Amino acid sequence: MALNVLSVASEAVPLVKTGGLADVAGALPAALAPHGVRLTTLLPGYPAVMRTVKRGKVLHTYDSLLGEPARLLSSKLGDHPMIVLDAPGFYAREGGLYGDPAGKDWDDNWRRFAALGRAAADVVGGMVKLPKFDLLHAHDWQAGMAPAYLRFAPVAGSAPVPSVMTVHNMAFQGYYAREVFKYLGLPKRAWAIDGVEYHKGVSFLKAGMEAASVITTVSPTYAREIRSAEFGMGLEGLVVSRGDRVRGIVNGIDHAEWNPAHDAQLPANFTARSLGKRAANKRALEEEFGLEPGDGPLFIVVSRLTWQKGMDVLLEVLDHLVGIGGRLALLGSGDRAMEAELAAAAARHPGRIGVRIGYDEGLSHRMQGGGDAILVPSRFEPCGLTQLYGLAYGCVPVVARTGGLADTVIDANLAAIAAGAATGVQFSGVDYPTLAAAVSRTVALYHQPDVWRAIQRNAMKADFSWNSSGSAYAELYRELVSAQ
Ligand code: ADP
Ligand code: GLC
Repeated sequence: MALNVLSVASEAVPLVKTGGLADVAGALPAALAPHGVRLTTLLPGYPAVMRTVKRGKVLHTYDSLLGEPARLLSSKLGDHPMIVLDAPGFYAREGGLYGDPAGKDWDDNWRRFAALGRAAADVVGGMVKLPKFDLLHAHDWQAGMAPAYLRFAPVAGSAPVPSVMTVHNMAFQGYYAREVFKYLGLPKRAWAIDGVEYHKGVSFLKAGMEAASVITTVSPTYAREIRSAEFGMGLEGLVVSRGDRVRGIVNGIDHAEWNPAHDAQLPANFTARSLGKRAANKRALEEEFGLEPGDGPLFIVVSRLTWQKGMDVLLEVLDHLVGIGGRLALLGSGDRAMEAELAAAAARHPGRIGVRIGYDEGLSHRMQGGGDAILVPSRFEPCGLTQLYGLAYGCVPVVARTGGLADTVIDANLAAIAAGAATGVQFSGVDYPTLAAAVSRTVALYHQPDVWRAIQRNAMKADFSWNSSGSAYAELYRELVSAQ
């Protein structure tokens, strides 16, 4: 039986992206199709999304959705069905998806994303003339109200529909003052410890995690970690209380987008059997970053510049990295103080450290294709995609042993090297001594060319396509639909 699923997200490639959530939401429809699941994506009608809506059929018109006129339009995300929530009062703005051009969160984010949740519940509740939806899949706090509306305020007369709440990052919870509750259109009983209430306010993420039939996170290790106070960010009690209703399914990568054999961004395409061709990419990358050629490895970083990503500790090890013959090309944006410190490090080490502040998709591909090793010193990492791109491109991942990083990289210890299994370098704990030691170990491995090549080849052979994770989601959907 083919399943009809509505996936609700606040970003999806190729239309709008601030991080890995967009890669995943954009890849899911194709990942699920071979498993008999038709996935329709519901996205807010930001300007970049509205530009792609051509001849979109109007599926529903709201006089007022959380206070703004709105429409549901049918459209396409690539080859797959999409529904756009066109509400200019909420989404037709210059700036970021979640904040103004200066980076400050929009004051009405609670209303903008409650509207998304309400619309999702209306769609699966049959308010639009589309084939019946069997399940709702919500991603992160921006979609968290969708399962809550389904549970507390479904479309009148509609049959119950199961839901999945995927947590891509516990650190972002969508928490608002209690005053917003009265505008949400929820019955009083939703203001409860097992409803949307959290520390006397409203938490969109908690609301979704309480209401959904099942919670998933994006790696098995993170699913375990969030049971503890260190990683649960206050919601660990809820996670523990939901027991086996919390699962971990690791993200895949989209090989149509990320494949070194065909990537149009690379000066030279290559495979695991033609690693020698990477040299041309490395030279081009050195030029692009104004780096001098050298005998040591060229490290890369592609990251949001935040505490989560351990970028403060990275800053501390840069002198050491350069001192032992390494070089660094970094692309990222985020914390303004970190941006300034990185620029200062580049000025201190001309020709050895190159920094590009900003967001550049094409450059991120060229870095994976030309860098020797990618550093990912995250303090926590629900899944992480850049290490997966590193594996696919033979850019050896050097990662903290946490979350999805622990689940996807096999450390190059002596046993793993001997067994031909090593795919990268792992270290435990994100602080100066451990990161400096990991960088030293990577440089030493790099100077053993046979070992290094073997690690690169193993990495490129590791299978992080969507095949197995697509089937895991499909299985979960079927389990929930048949239990309904
Ligand atoms: P997170 O979603 O927590 O930021 P992930 O590793 O899951 O971390 O995903 C990050 C995604 O964003 C990857 O696709 C990565 O290549 C991309 N990315 C991050 N920073 C930049 C940047 N400055 N320029 C281009 N791509 C970036
Ligand atoms: C979040 C997490 C990241 C994960 C991504 C996609 O942004 O920080 O670890 O890979 O979501 O699931």
